[in-house]
Amino acid sequence: MPGCELVDDMIRCANEEDFKAMMSDPVAKIEKLQPLWPDNIAIQCFDPAYFATLPDDLKARLLKCVNSGIENPDSEMGCYACQPSDYDDLKPFFSKVLARYHKVPENARHVNDWNLEGVVGLPEDRMLDLSTLGLPALSIRIRCGRNLKDFPLPGSMSRRDRIRLEEKMMAAFEKLIGMPEYGGRYYSLTRGNPCFIDEAAYRDLVDAHIMFKNMDADRYLTAAGIAADWPQGRGCYVSADKEAIIWVGEEDHLRIMCMQRGTVLNEVLNRLKSMLDVVEGIEGLNFAYSSAYGVVTSCPTNLGTGMRASLHLALPNLTADGTDAKAKAIARPLGLSVRGVGGEHTPIGPNGTVDISPSARFCITEAEIVASLYRGIALLMAEESKASP
Ligand code: ARG
Repeated sequence: MPGCELVDDMIRCANEEDFKAMMSDPVAKIEKLQPLWPDNIAIQCFDPAYFATLPDDLKARLLKCVNSGIENPDSEMGCYACQPSDYDDLKPFFSKVLARYHKVPENARHVNDWNLEGVVGLPEDRMLDLSTLGLPALSIRIRCGRNLKDFPLPGSMSRRDRIRLEEKMMAAFEKLIGMPEYGGRYYSLTRGNPCFIDEAAYRDLVDAHIMFKNMDADRYLTAAGIAADWPQGRGCYVSADKEAIIWVGEEDHLRIMCMQRGTVLNEVLNRLKSMLDVVEGIEGLNFAYSSAYGVVTSCPTNLGTGMRASLHLALPNLTADGTDAKAKAIARPLGLSVRGVGGEHTPIGPNGTVDISPSARFCITEAEIVASLYRGIALLMAEESKASP
């Protein structure tokens, strides 16, 4: 953790006594970090006066939430919720975090809505078909983070919780497996599980962009406790056509996603909504919601919809210098994020292919996210044409 060593060294050099106090007193530690890390949202929003008013159990819960950002002061967000009720029970902290990251008022409320009717600026038939923009079939993927309300969030789960969650989900997946439009099977990384797959089979699923990567390699997730007990209780359901996938035990209890090579965003959106409704309709499965904030996710960056709608797009002109810097600069004011094709923090792919998704997740509806992907791609393609050599 280079960032962390740097701060520790600076503080250690400045004053040995202060450093010792900081290690035994987390609030003092956070106060030391505040002037040094202005871009770490959790550190900046931590108010020692509010902390002092909390009973001991809430104090411990808040410190647990911010641990990742303290151990990794280079974090942008710097915290994760660890209980489904953390956003509500620690609202004076989280409302500030959410306002700062999502650029909404502190009293913002989230409303979920998948219906494209009423979304402005769409084609009359509300078909979000990228072929009308002259684009070929692209790899389109929409995912939704979901958590079950009767388990701690992944940062606070015990090994036993992780195994129980996986068992509960495996029973639920029987329903999908029995439906002709889904079918498929479950793959588990848990030793002794009847669906266990070995390291080589796991690698193949990662390479096929079906399974998630080793969470132990992510220092933010490790410090948050989210990667603990890896790979126990981790696995994924994959439909027969391999286009409907549910991750179990990653950053959220569930990441429910649909992907397709095609041009019509509605098809992916509708399939995802149907699958979500099937899963949520299963007896005994209750997703965690906050009355003010909508869908509960571990990371406050995903709160509200938990939705990320993305596609892979070749931008050879905008990436002619071999980096995504220019594409990022142009995409940002359009409300779009640019990533490498291998996920968060990965490089651009062949022919300047990048992953594009609307940045907003909170205080926006699901329908608006998908509509903004469609509108954003139109604008981005115009910039790509302008940049032609
Ligand atoms: N915790 C990291 C940070 O604060 C990552 C946050 C966003 N990424 C995510 N996978 N939730 O910078």
